[in-house]
Amino acid sequence: MKDLNDISLGVAAMETGGARGAAAADASARGDSAEPRAENFFEFRDVCKSFDDNAVLKDVSFSVKRGETCVIMGRSGVGKSVSLKHIMGFMRADSGRIFVDGQDVTDFSEQQFEEVRRKVTMVFQSGALFDSLTVAENIAFPLEKQPGLENEDIDAYVAKLAKMLEVEEVLDKLPSELSTGMKRAVAMARAFAQNPDAILFDEPTTMVDPIMAGHMGDLILRLKDAFHRTSIVVTHDTHLAKKLADTVVFLQDGRVAFFGPWNNFENSKDPFLHNFRMQDALIPALDVTL
Ligand SMILES: Nc1ncnc2c1ncn2[C@@H]1O[C@H](COP(=O)(O)OP(=O)(O)O)[C@@H](O)[C@H]1O
Ligand SMILES: [Mg+2]
Repeated sequence: MKDLNDISLGVAAMETGGARGAAAADASARGDSAEPRAENFFEFRDVCKSFDDNAVLKDVSFSVKRGETCVIMGRSGVGKSVSLKHIMGFMRADSGRIFVDGQDVTDFSEQQFEEVRRKVTMVFQSGALFDSLTVAENIAFPLEKQPGLENEDIDAYVAKLAKMLEVEEVLDKLPSELSTGMKRAVAMARAFAQNPDAILFDEPTTMVDPIMAGHMGDLILRLKDAFHRTSIVVTHDTHLAKKLADTVVFLQDGRVAFFGPWNNFENSKDPFLHNFRMQDALIPALDVTL
């Protein structure tokens, strides 16, 4: 077994965003450290995407600086999830370019996207947990593949993440025994166990009550403060956005109606943006994606 101090050292390194804790060996095997680090971790340049006659993304451009949190907002069906799927390589742009960690991934092969998915994890709305594995096994899953980690190391790290996400009490339960909010917290723990460079959250507060929504926001904020990972949070929850956003992308009719710092979004006099903020602030409990 590794000395527990190694684990905490690794975790401490992860927390400062420096040398890469549990996945350090893996990262250096990828040669990450030798590459110059682009200032923008994500960038969309004039991305267009249609499904038959339905033009969903129209010349969408925005960027997310390394270490920052960008919130993508907009009404249901506007293309928020579609944007995330382009980053993960689950969907391909009709035109325009997409950059991840300084690399133009637009024409990446499926095999190359497997590399991207090691750097960038997505936390799905459903949680997408393994039903037959316990909570502890779900969180440990990405750690099992790490070279040089022994069971005791994995247990210690799972315990640490579980504490951070407040799921220690349910480590032995199956996902089916958990509330939606708990499932999402476990999904977040599993995503962080992979020690990615960036995390994408799709609607982390929908389908839960306002108190749980506030709690989910606090958990993401805690992870943001602890790990300093680049992230994109898709939501139409203005409370959550205010808590997390360094920058905002507001999508409307397939276009970027606003891209900039949160403060500018909050103070924008644009009637549509103002209206959106007011409505959403009044009815958080009805914030449901169809
Ligand atoms: N695989 C698909 N095939 C056809 N249309 C799709 C597909 N995925 C998404 N769409 C359409 O793209 C639009 C945006 O979807 P989505 O990004 O999921 O919206 P949201 O902003 O609510 O996340 C919707 O009109 C949806 O019907
Ligand atoms: Mg969506």
